[in-house]
Amino acid sequence: SGDVVRRDRFSGGPAREFLSSMDADRRIFAADVAVDRAHVVMLAEQGIIEADVAGEILDALDDIEAAGHGALPEGEDVHAAIETAVIERVGADGGKMHTARSRNDEVATCIRHRLREDLLDAAETTVALREALLEVAAEHTDTVMPGYTHLQPAQPTTAAHWLCSYEQAIARDTERLLDAYGRVNRSPLGAAAFAGTTFDIDRERTAELLGFESVVGNSMDASSTRDFLLESVSALAALATTLSGIAEDVVLFANRGFVELDDDYASTSSIMPQKKNPDTLELVRSTAGDAAAGVNGLLTTLKGLPRAYNRDLQNATPYAWETVDAVVEAADVVGGAISTAEWPEDALADAAGEGFSTATGVADLLAAHGLPFRTAHEVVAVASEKGADLQAVEAAAEEVLDEPLSEYVDPAAVEAALDPAESVASRDSVGGPAPAAVASHLDRATDGVDA
Ligand code: ARG
Repeated sequence: SGDVVRRDRFSGGPAREFLSSMDADRRIFAADVAVDRAHVVMLAEQGIIEADVAGEILDALDDIEAAGHGALPEGEDVHAAIETAVIERVGADGGKMHTARSRNDEVATCIRHRLREDLLDAAETTVALREALLEVAAEHTDTVMPGYTHLQPAQPTTAAHWLCSYEQAIARDTERLLDAYGRVNRSPLGAAAFAGTTFDIDRERTAELLGFESVVGNSMDASSTRDFLLESVSALAALATTLSGIAEDVVLFANRGFVELDDDYASTSSIMPQKKNPDTLELVRSTAGDAAAGVNGLLTTLKGLPRAYNRDLQNATPYAWETVDAVVEAADVVGGAISTAEWPEDALADAAGEGFSTATGVADLLAAHGLPFRTAHEVVAVASEKGADLQAVEAAAEEVLDEPLSEYVDPAAVEAALDPAESVASRDSVGGPAPAAVASHLDRATDGVDA
């Protein structure tokens, strides 16, 4: 209409598509409506715009929200398009909505508003995943299996100990997400382009209306910083890295027949009829690469930007959306895959002793009976070349110590230490794999997750 101020001075040229963030802004459509509402309410409360105009703008925003992002008029971005849609409904007075702000503080507020939701979603997903790991662990405190270092058989452990190792790591990932949330949850609104405003605005009030815990004070920093994206995506990348470890272990376990994935989490081959492949976990493993790419994309986009707002920032935002979507999906898949998998206990028990994995326990036993640990290590090293059974340990003792083994320790105790289940049960130090030690981890962790 004739009285609508034209704001399309730069919108018609060949770079129009290039400039536009309209598609990516779908993600912050609802946030922008919320930010507009809070800003308009504050403007009216402060007497900066008339109450009846504010009311008309709020009605228009309801209408625009109901129609959805797809119904927006053309615009360089969602902020411009919503403003145009308000003016279409209200007339020129709709243009009062943009008093005392800029798209620079507006977009920063929208991103934080939406990212809060995504971070809480991500944190909830990690809690659900931890619950899944703990539930399966509770069933497998006695499921003895091989443990590895350098991918070589190292010492026997249990499936529960392995599961709890990841539950504990993901608990830290939850903390990192919530830590990032705390700094995302601050309002830049009212910073305007970067230099504040002449109007008597109330930044605390819009922060409160939007549920932010505080405001980002300095207006130059508020409108231009994206460090909150970097730390959110870094927290997600740390989580993705943890998930990639679980995924890789499960791929290896599946290779050895130590775990049987449910069909829902496996895939087959188009040519090899016998195949059951752990493809879901392979994709989880690769998600850590996507998340690392997100961190790298942000670092390289943000590095060296001058104060204050620069349009580069528009390209930074999608790294956060892509990363959070990919990592949350991967975390869900891991929870489902672990919850539905079978642990073939006999195969695990059979494999638990391979590679003389009880050697450390035998050396510990000799050391507990007075031999210096280094000497005990030597005896068991020699035994490992002689067959890794009681006879081998006896022969090694004769050779290294010049005395029969029974001078030091009851051979029956050595026999017990050579048994993988006994070996696990004996390692009951805090955090160790003994069923009792794992049970106390389960108690504490279940309390923490439930709290
Ligand atoms: N769409 C932009 C972004 O995502 C906000 C617009 C600010 N534009 C400007 N020319 N200052 O960052």
